[in-house]
Amino acid sequence: MWKGRFAQDTSSLVQQFGESISYDWRLYPHDVAGSIAHARAQREAGLLDASEFSAIEAGLKEILADIEAGRFEFKTSLEDIHMNIEAELTRRIGPAGAKLHTARSRNDQVATDTRLYCRAEIDGLLASISGLQGALLDRAEKYAATFVPGYTHLQRGQPVTVGHHLLAYVEMLERDKGRLADARKRLNVSPLGSGALAGSTINLNRHAIAAELGFGSVTTNSMDAIADRDYIAETLFAIGLCGVHLSRLSEDLILWCSAEFGFVIFSDAHTTGSSLMPQKKNPDVCELTRGKTGRLVGNLMNLLVAVKGLPLTYNRDLQEDKPPLFDSIDTLKLILAVNTEMIAAMEIREERCLAAASDPMLLATDLADWLVKQGIPFRHAHELVGKAVAEAIATGTPLDQLDLTKIDPAYTDDAKSVFNLQRALAARSNPGAPSIDNVKSEIARWRS
Ligand code: ARG
Repeated sequence: MWKGRFAQDTSSLVQQFGESISYDWRLYPHDVAGSIAHARAQREAGLLDASEFSAIEAGLKEILADIEAGRFEFKTSLEDIHMNIEAELTRRIGPAGAKLHTARSRNDQVATDTRLYCRAEIDGLLASISGLQGALLDRAEKYAATFVPGYTHLQRGQPVTVGHHLLAYVEMLERDKGRLADARKRLNVSPLGSGALAGSTINLNRHAIAAELGFGSVTTNSMDAIADRDYIAETLFAIGLCGVHLSRLSEDLILWCSAEFGFVIFSDAHTTGSSLMPQKKNPDVCELTRGKTGRLVGNLMNLLVAVKGLPLTYNRDLQEDKPPLFDSIDTLKLILAVNTEMIAAMEIREERCLAAASDPMLLATDLADWLVKQGIPFRHAHELVGKAVAEAIATGTPLDQLDLTKIDPAYTDDAKSVFNLQRALAARSNPGAPSIDNVKSEIARWRS
């Protein structure tokens, strides 16, 4: 591709070091689409005659079909997907192929391809995240009225329902979709025409190219368009954070399926056994989700560090943007698919959840609230309940069995009315709180 200036061939070690075809081959549908749009603009500018354009278009479509059918031989010596396709096109159709690279550089080509790739993959991720939300919603609906302790510091705090707990993740995933959709909006801009860094003396219709490729607009600074990879960083961040959310869900479920909690049972199809301990049933899907999230976070760091010291505009370092991008996309796709399947099949052990939620200590805050309703300032009420809790622990008496009137005259016999789980949940009826009615209307809202 640059033989004019060079007397020596590239060392084979340098070829091996510098190639990206082993991973950027997957940009091929976008590379072909970009090339066809570029060729059409060349035709409109009078740079190609009708038969040259037809030969280019047909040749590129044949190459696309060959790649799709696994019939295309990628060559490491041709470095990347852009040169592999262009060289093969020229081999097949002759001189017209050699005109395709007019007013174009691999620099605007790779920026275009990766934007198109991100756009398509984000669309797929949005659908997959919605699928996982659907599985969570189904479980939330089934267990909308299943009481379970809510935790802070992994200590039992206050009662909630399994439905409310699962809906928390539906919320997080919705924001993850919002971040991906937002990244998509910003990246859907056409860099084609930016050339190597300073546009071209041959002015093609950038708006027509952008429209053909479904871009919303064209980039407005050729150097920025070539140099920046913020759209990849944003995509990697949105993916990384989605992974972090699913890693936390995994951690909840790992705890919940332990003998100590015993709140959830996974299907045999989504767990593994031990080669040594016959009784084991391990939540590997959750653990791997948690583990793989480390890679998602690492991929974002990888890109940010690769870009941070680069002067404008293109530097070869930027070729290193793709492995973390592809890995994060592939990894999150798999995480979403396997978690959707696993959650759709998981069963909650309602009796275990209810037994844990029936710990009267969970209603200590409700007792303080009861005192507040009798006119006691909250800080004082907190202290009075604290004394009752200490007494319960010291005497081994359940909190709801204590004679509270002996602890402080502020208590009356009516105080014990707070120890009713149904009522305690129903009272939590403000927007966002876990009353069963709230959870049911949230489920209906998510469904619609
Ligand atoms: N394989 C390169 C990459 O992924 C394509 C762009 C090469 N441009 C250049 N000036 N060497 O970044």
